[in-house]
Amino acid sequence: MVGITETVLRDGHQSLIATRMRTKHMLPAAERLDQIGYHSIEAWGGATYDVCLRFLREDPWERLRALKRVMPNTPLQMLLRGQNLVGYRHYADDMVEAFVAKAARDGIGVFRVFDALNDPKNMEVALKAVRKSGAVAQGTICYTQSPVHTLPAFVELGRQLAAMGADELCVKDMAGFMPPREGGELVRALVKEVGLPVTVHTHSSSGLSTLTCLAVTAAGATAIDSALSPFAGGASQPPTETLVGALEGTPDATGLDIEALAELAEYFRGVMEHYKPLLDTRSLQTDPTILIHQVPGGMLSNLLSQLKDQDSLQRLGEVLEEIPRVRADLGYPPLVTPTSQIVGIQSVINVLTGGRYRQITREVQDYVKGMYGTPPAPIDAELREKVLHGASPIQGRPADQLAPELTKALQEVRSFVPAADTAEALSYALFPAVFKSYRAALDRGLTPEHLTAAAVGIVAAMRTPAPAPAPIAPLPSAGGGVNVWAHAGRSSLSQNRRWVDAHRARTGR
Ligand code: CO
Repeated sequence: MVGITETVLRDGHQSLIATRMRTKHMLPAAERLDQIGYHSIEAWGGATYDVCLRFLREDPWERLRALKRVMPNTPLQMLLRGQNLVGYRHYADDMVEAFVAKAARDGIGVFRVFDALNDPKNMEVALKAVRKSGAVAQGTICYTQSPVHTLPAFVELGRQLAAMGADELCVKDMAGFMPPREGGELVRALVKEVGLPVTVHTHSSSGLSTLTCLAVTAAGATAIDSALSPFAGGASQPPTETLVGALEGTPDATGLDIEALAELAEYFRGVMEHYKPLLDTRSLQTDPTILIHQVPGGMLSNLLSQLKDQDSLQRLGEVLEEIPRVRADLGYPPLVTPTSQIVGIQSVINVLTGGRYRQITREVQDYVKGMYGTPPAPIDAELREKVLHGASPIQGRPADQLAPELTKALQEVRSFVPAADTAEALSYALFPAVFKSYRAALDRGLTPEHLTAAAVGIVAAMRTPAPAPAPIAPLPSAGGGVNVWAHAGRSSLSQNRRWVDAHRARTGR
């Protein structure tokens, strides 16, 4: 029997409607969701915290408590970016400890902890704090492909996470290109060598996810992530009902009632209808070109808008060629927030300035200095010298450089919210400007409802009449008439083949 982690309340809407689902559209379904018998329900963390404050003007902590009140039986799960919590930089250890303790107290039962570099040092404090809180600590392996991301290396990371106190492991295929067979081999090896339960998280972007879910289930995964069908497919997870149906009658049956799921899906179809103006239909399409260029969907749309701003859309092919090179220079980081942005922006700059690393972004400099953690492989020597001028990168944990920050945040936030508690200090410390404007809006008497309607309206107006070009369409290159996508693909594809061959040679499979 395999468990299902339902993602409709977090990754499902984060992937398809820019994380804009409001608490009031979650609550009517919460009781029914709680009765389904899910392994867990992912309902918090990731981008939801930021979006609650920034766009929906909702208190994320209030959402969590409200959901837990109606869902007492099913573990609620959150996505935690290790030492980055739900933000975009490293926070001091006292912040991590306070955040985890508070989230556990308010209803989180499973913490999925990951780090963009797969650096266990950046997950250690969070995993320990989760253990201390009594919740389940899920240590995450971000799946990616490179010469150093071999099966033995992933297993070794699994062992390190176990030694740090992880109760379970998660294989996170955030870009949605983990092939079924490789996924199966990875899960089998982790179960055998590490001995912890393994959950698999995929995205449907390339169309592989349903196949991969079946393969990892057969290989012994304890649970798989899926979203109810109205919020499934494309940039989101595979559909819950489909997986339940596919596994029915097999030894891996989920035990979930497909008719009860269909009723819930009916409800969420209405919710999706409401948010339709926010849905970019491209995010629902299957895009197998990711198997070739490995650029996740979100990163691709960022690249397109950056190039468009520079009036340089025709250079997309060159940028897609440059991305694997920059990634190699930086020691093959998995491409996920924030490394996807770091690699993407530097690649655009390398192409547009007509010289590699003629300009180096602040983020790449920090990365080379070790401020994001230890990369999976050494950084290119020439780039390192260019940034460090002979100095050494930070040794040890980046967060060791940070002084405690919670007490200071509490003092500061109390200067404008006199009764502020730990939760408000955390929100302020995570997103100072956003939290200030959130408070100011509430003080002006604007209800979250008003502001949400305004935010939806603004975003919808920004999205229509969608002027962005379809990314799969052939674009004229400088040479004229060449399909840049096909062109960009070939070299990356052969590079991938080399990696896979090297991987096979090394592992003898
Ligand atoms: Co995801």
